[in-house]
Formats: sequence, C-alpha cells, structure tokens
Amino acid sequence: MNNTDFITILKTRYACKAMNGKTVPQEKIDSVLEAIRLSPTSSGLQPFEIISITNQEIKEKIRPVAWNQAQITDCSHLLVFAAWDTYTADRINYMFDLTNEVRGVANEGWENYRQKLLAALPQMDAEVNFQHASKQAYIALMSAMTQAQAEGLDSTPMEGFQASAVDEILGLREKGLRSCVLLTVGYKDAESDWLVKLEKVRKPMDKLVTTLA
Ligand SMILES: Cc1cc2nc3c(=O)[nH]c(=O)nc-3n(C[C@H](O)[C@H](O)[C@H](O)COP(=O)(O)O)c2cc1C
Repeated sequence: MNNTDFITILKTRYACKAMNGKTVPQEKIDSVLEAIRLSPTSSGLQPFEIISITNQEIKEKIRPVAWNQAQITDCSHLLVFAAWDTYTADRINYMFDLTNEVRGVANEGWENYRQKLLAALPQMDAEVNFQHASKQAYIALMSAMTQAQAEGLDSTPMEGFQASAVDEILGLREKGLRSCVLLTVGYKDAESDWLVKLEKVRKPMDKLVTTLA
C-alpha cells in the first residue's frame, strides 16, 4: 500500500446513515476484526473485547437504546467495542506472559515494566482505568472503519447509545466489560442515505496544525 491509498480510503469512507440489510461475507468481517486485533494499544494490553452481533433479535433490542438509529438493525454486523471495566493483575499478567511466550524470552527490562504496571494500574480508580481502556478501543475503532472501507464495506461509528442499557442487554458487566463505542458494518442504502452525496467537511490545515520550526 502506498500513502495515496490510505488517504483515498480516508477521503472515501463516511459515516453511513442508512444500510440495506445485506449480509457481509465472513472473510471481509474477519479482515475488519484482524485490523482491530492488530491495532496498537498503550503498553500492548489490548484492554477491550469485541462483541460481533448478527443476531437480529439482539439488534432489535439494542436499537431503541441507541437513539433508534436504523443502521443498528439494517447493518450486517454490529460490533460492540467493550473496554475492560478496570485493570487487574490477572489482565496485565496475561498480556506480559503472552508476550514472553510468543517471543520465547523473558527480558529483565520487560519484567520490570510489568512490575511497574502491576504496582500502578490495579490500584487506580476503576472509572479512570475504564476511560483509559476506552481510549485504546477507539484506536482500534479507526482501524476497523478504514479496513471496512478498504474491503468495500460501509460502516458507522456510534457513540449515540446508552452504554448501561447495552451492557445490560449483552451481560457485559458480569464479564468485567463496559461498552464504549459501536460500529455498524454493512452496505449503504444509497437512496435513503442523506450523507452519501454530500461533500466531506474538514477544517483547513492551518486550523489544525501549529508548526514550531
Ligand atoms: C466516535 C464517533 C461517534 C459517532 N457517533 C455517531 C452516531 O452515534 N451516529 C451517527 O450517525 N454518526 C456518528 N458518528 C459519525 C460522525 O458524525 C462523522 O464521523 C463525522 O460527522 C464526520 O463525517 P464522516 O465520518 O462522514 O467523514 C460518530 C463518529 C465518531 C468518530
């Protein structure tokens, strides 16, 4: 992939406002999920899970607690990004142990870093930890949106939902998870999507970047 390709993906993806209910082939969803899995996270902890929903009944339950947004029921796959409710020693150790296993070596600097995190994170306020974990999930959200576009799919990121209600429907709190953002993945209904023909609006570079040379 060259740089132009990525910019083209960013220019052409948009927040789909109406979907047509068609099913996305599993291999395309798998590639979106792989983009999520490969996304970087702070300390490599990957502090979130994805609930991939195709079950129509569950989508119907979620729609009313998601501002009644039609893409929830008209998408192919509804991805719920569910962040860890806090950082625990078990969760931190899992990722450090996995790293040692994959790399086949334990490294002193790495083990010291593990101890530093174990001493700091589990003791922190759970809400602060959840907010931090959520930020990591948002990085993966961006990967998912761009990979969906690369696969010729449409998607809608959504914060417009009642997280506690979605948690309840999916039984997330019992698993130590809390929903933080949704992504509907599917195909646009070009006739009823009011956004599809409108020009993308972004502020100019000089309102975004300050250069200190
Ligand atoms: C984190 C996040 C949450 C969003 N929540 C919603 C939402 O609930 N419903 C919706 O229709 N669009 C939602 N959007 C879409 C934005 O409004 C849209 O991305 C923005 O206006 C820029 O337009 P574009 O994505 O089409 O380029 C959300 C976008 C992001 C990144």
